[in-house]
Amino acid sequence: MTPEGEKARKGPEQGQIQIREDAYVKVKDGLIDEVGTMAQLQAEQLAGEKVIDARGSLVTPGLVDPHTHLIFAGWRQKELALKLKGVGYLEILEQGGGILNTVRNTKAASAEQLKELAERILDRMLTRGVTTCEAKSGYGLDLENELKSLRVIKKLNEDHLVDVVPTFMGAHAVPQEYQGRSADFVRLVKEEMIPEVARLRLAEFNDVFCEQGVFDLAESKEILECGKEYGLIPKAHAEEITALGGASMAAEVGAISAEHLIHVTDQGIKDMSESSTIAVLLPATSLNLGAQFAPARDMIAAGVPIALSTDFNPGSCPTDSLQLVMNLACMKYKMTPEEVLTAVTLNAAAAIKRADSIGTIEPGKQADLVIWDAPDLEFIMYRFGTNLVNTVVKKGQAYAVPQTLEPIFN
Ligand code: NIG
Ligand code: FE
Repeated sequence: MTPEGEKARKGPEQGQIQIREDAYVKVKDGLIDEVGTMAQLQAEQLAGEKVIDARGSLVTPGLVDPHTHLIFAGWRQKELALKLKGVGYLEILEQGGGILNTVRNTKAASAEQLKELAERILDRMLTRGVTTCEAKSGYGLDLENELKSLRVIKKLNEDHLVDVVPTFMGAHAVPQEYQGRSADFVRLVKEEMIPEVARLRLAEFNDVFCEQGVFDLAESKEILECGKEYGLIPKAHAEEITALGGASMAAEVGAISAEHLIHVTDQGIKDMSESSTIAVLLPATSLNLGAQFAPARDMIAAGVPIALSTDFNPGSCPTDSLQLVMNLACMKYKMTPEEVLTAVTLNAAAAIKRADSIGTIEPGKQADLVIWDAPDLEFIMYRFGTNLVNTVVKKGQAYAVPQTLEPIFN
């Protein structure tokens, strides 16, 4: 079961899925070579081939998680108690907690420590069906520590089975030493960080937290325009906590995606629909923040393509389960199972400029697949909170996900 094509699908097309019963997928050199039905396959064609029998199971493209803050040190479970008392996310940040707490821990951590933590998360993501994920820097907030984070991302991409796509997010928060002088920090991002990140080719995308009390519309735009001059593709965190107009700003600068959009306005949706900016929605963040859910149906009706992601990070969304996000999208956004599948495969790939190589089961694309312990797509959406992945195929190599306990001592 797969969406098809090499670009994001929007409107009614978001829910158009190719269903092939009794299908086979032939893989060669890490790529999908052929797709067909078993009836078309002659017995001699199987001679000498390694065969995985997926009879009775749903097979989809490998899942793509297009928005994560994977590189950090230190969890923030202490914020839960504050949150339960009603202290707001931006309030915690203003008091030097939140993102700034993680910045202190991340600065103090070595590259090796950051890599080790991220590897454990990537392992978990992979066993839940994620074969490609995006990862942002943004807990360094100075040149040295942003480069450290981006180099960890590069190394993870080389060493881990999951493909990891790098985003620079130096403009994730105004660091404590720049409080009240955000213009100076914006200058630092533009004049020192972006040129160096681009020179070292450590990132493909440039993201900014466009939010009240963080980076305003003008600052966000300046940072994204500057990145463009250096070849970094713009992305934006927009309308997460307040409706600032970040969706329209993202559309105006030609951002590949605008993310969150919890408080997006009708104007924001209209501007996005007239651009090619993809909406990356993060329902687990809404759940964790106790916030409302982004108006996904309005966006689909207006023809804005939707991708879904975890937003994995130690603050606003500590879950690494894209399956939970799929369940929430169905239940809270009222997206159909088919729209959800497109949102975590083809459209998620498009949000990180990979729709030509991953995100669908079609000849020529990378052989990244998931074999599910599920007979159909509805089953995945309905069995929320359970990992239903049976086997992950990454670049043609199959990995069984353990379903039973292994004794530690024999
Ligand atoms: O997408 N809003 C900014 N960044 C993350 C949260 C990061 C954090 O809380 O550490 C987000 O929600
Ligand atoms: Fe985020």
